[in-house]
Amino acid sequence: MQYGYFDDQRREYVITQPDTPLPWINYLGCQEYFGLISNTAGGYSFYRDARLRRLTRYRYNHLPLDQGGRYLYLRDDESGRYWSPSGAPTNCDLERYSCRHGMGYTVIGSVYQGISAHTRYFVPLDETLEIWQLTVINQRARPAWLSIFSCVEFCLWDAQDDATNFQRNFSIGEVEIADGVIYHKTEYRERRDHFGWFACSEPVEGFDTQREAFFGPGRGWERPLVVEGGESANSVAHGWAPVGSHHVRLRLEPGETRQVQFVLGYHENARDQKFDPPGSQILNKKTVRPIIARYRDAAAVDAAFCRLRTYWDGLLSVCQVETPSVHANRMVNIWNAYQCMMTFNLSRSASFYESGVGRGLGFRDSNQDLLGFVHMAPERARQRILDLAATQYPGGGAYHQYQPLTKKGNNEIGGNFNDDPHWLILGVAAYLKETADWSILDEPAPFDNEPGSEQPLYEHLHRSFRYTLERLGPHGLPLIGRADWNDCLNLNCFSETPGQSFQTTTNKDGKVAESVFIAGLFVLAARELAAIACRRGAAADAQRCLDAAARMTETVKAHGWDGAWFVRAYDDFGRKIGSKECAEGQIFIEPQGFCVMAGIGLDDGRARQALDSVRRHLATPHGIVLQQPAYSRYYPHLGEISSYPPGYKENAGIFCHNNPWIMIAEAMTGNGDGTFDYYLRINPSAREPISDVHCNEPYVYAQMIAGRDAPAHGEAKNSWLTGTAAWNYYAATQWILGIRPEYDGLRIAPVIPEAWAGFRAVRKFRGVTYNIEVHRQGPGNRVSLRVDSQPLAGDIVAPPADGRAWVAVEVAIG
Ligand code: GLC
Ligand code: GLC
Repeated sequence: MQYGYFDDQRREYVITQPDTPLPWINYLGCQEYFGLISNTAGGYSFYRDARLRRLTRYRYNHLPLDQGGRYLYLRDDESGRYWSPSGAPTNCDLERYSCRHGMGYTVIGSVYQGISAHTRYFVPLDETLEIWQLTVINQRARPAWLSIFSCVEFCLWDAQDDATNFQRNFSIGEVEIADGVIYHKTEYRERRDHFGWFACSEPVEGFDTQREAFFGPGRGWERPLVVEGGESANSVAHGWAPVGSHHVRLRLEPGETRQVQFVLGYHENARDQKFDPPGSQILNKKTVRPIIARYRDAAAVDAAFCRLRTYWDGLLSVCQVETPSVHANRMVNIWNAYQCMMTFNLSRSASFYESGVGRGLGFRDSNQDLLGFVHMAPERARQRILDLAATQYPGGGAYHQYQPLTKKGNNEIGGNFNDDPHWLILGVAAYLKETADWSILDEPAPFDNEPGSEQPLYEHLHRSFRYTLERLGPHGLPLIGRADWNDCLNLNCFSETPGQSFQTTTNKDGKVAESVFIAGLFVLAARELAAIACRRGAAADAQRCLDAAARMTETVKAHGWDGAWFVRAYDDFGRKIGSKECAEGQIFIEPQGFCVMAGIGLDDGRARQALDSVRRHLATPHGIVLQQPAYSRYYPHLGEISSYPPGYKENAGIFCHNNPWIMIAEAMTGNGDGTFDYYLRINPSAREPISDVHCNEPYVYAQMIAGRDAPAHGEAKNSWLTGTAAWNYYAATQWILGIRPEYDGLRIAPVIPEAWAGFRAVRKFRGVTYNIEVHRQGPGNRVSLRVDSQPLAGDIVAPPADGRAWVAVEVAIG
């Protein structure tokens, strides 16, 4: 069953009924001001940091689930009937409801009793504000007298404090109202120099800023007293809960169309210019007034919207493909690329599953995210890499997370996740391959943000490399620390206390438990570092890396091979995890993917065997589960993984993040059909027809789909902010379509299904547009290339030496 359809021409997903199985959301904003918006206009906004600068309030896990947002009410002033054109919160019987989620904007609207009303929500580029552009059309045969009421509930900035500290917060709310603009200035009197504002393009009939006055006692979003009565109370908030509401009256002739803009913004004043007149307590509005004036003008709003479209067209144009698969096309060309930009912007901070008050930016997460967006925003990738490197410890380890506002490592979580340092090497390698900007390696970056500790990025990478060599366990495999990629495999934790964090409790000395996954990751990272060192002319460094990688490969073969697949780890007792010797958890996905990606076993058949074992034991129609058999009970020596009921999350859920590792491994062994089959199993667009089972949005990846041990097998959770976005994008573009940046140029080495006659792609790479045409000539994956009609040896197309901005690459495959 479907709840909408893809409009690929417009790069939109169109939702045709408000009652989707879960809120289906989109993001507004791509620089500093961000918002989440559901298909019924639920959600909230913040400036840069979802916890510390929350503009509007949102109550997670509400009943109904998605309540509170950017709501407009329309009221027929003749009949007194009122409704929300976005569905929520009044839930009237709307006609022709639709929600169009597009690139950085959402349009929601409907028709109700002859009145058509659609609102376009977006954040203009280079502004810290959002626009709600409402278009109302009177489709009746007679004039319509309408009232419009807007409403937002302001958050008192720190979302965590806002949701808990009521003894203080109910007494501090403050607003000002001037020229129809509502200014939210709680705490501005003291240490804050920022405020929120909410304006309307039309003269307002009235306003409200005190929540209880607008809603009335005992009422909620679905039945505000003021809307029911058709008259604002002109309330001025003191303490309690400030809101922003305007009342606008319209008279529309039959067939008449009117546009009204509401604009919600964030603004900062210089410390010494906070008040006007100076010395007063009155907010200085001079600096923000020109901005407000600009967006009261509909033409300026339209122009801002066009700029936003051009921005997204530009980003997406870096890689556009035309394959025989509509699902691959729309994910690669539109939605997966878009999701990669969102994970870059927000990491794992704010979604409908991440409440914005928890995690900052994860070290491993952000490095992996680079794989998906570096081609679209290389300069931002550069900055991200340097920020990440600055949260590394001098010993090579890294803070597991850092706060985006301060860019400082998060002390509560600390480090000792022993996989973390290597993701930096992979992130930097991806950046270098895309840009050839070798200067980044000489860029000084501090350790632990400590001034004076700066070392070139290149040195940071070597500390990452050495970190593992200084932490080897009894079998010579890397010690796991608090956890590796699998945050929930906590082998040094042994927790029996409810509520204790599995990630930060360490009550074993950590000298025994080892990770085969980190071994694979280490081999891959060491090889990358060797390639980097080699190109810097540091031959001795390169050799050291290659030797260590070779030794680790032998160790994996000796102690990390279980006969038909790679072992997962050794526990604190030195016993195997992910082995046929285990009662549960006999085979895990992660080492099969990463060891093969690192090249281990490609030469002796083990890779093929491991992948066949994955197919036999872990593959389901909904994707590949993380391990089998699922853990049926809690095991303190394994940690959080066994805390989940079977089939969910890390306990045998389909963790979509690591499915692409298997796709890439399959591609490396030349299995085009197998790779694409796995790709489609978790591709959201391919799952659209089973939206009632999948439940999450059909246009973005979810972190997890319930595994075969779960009653709800096939149901997705945690959409949007997940490493799944980058890895699937990377697998699809670089390994299936095989358009792969390398240090020396763009490699074209597709591993596509036998049935494909070929595909076309346009890829911008280091300032050159590559027009690529692939034609199948027979089975298999052997390629021969012609560049601008001249045969080329090998499969790497270097950017043309003569500075041309365009090359034509013909690829014969088979
Ligand atoms: C989550 C985390 C990621 C971790 C994964 C597996 O996606 O963000 O860091 O690797 O879970 O536990
Ligand atoms: C929880 C989640 C896991 C995540 C971890 C780190 O354990 O289940 O997916 O990686 O938290 O925050």
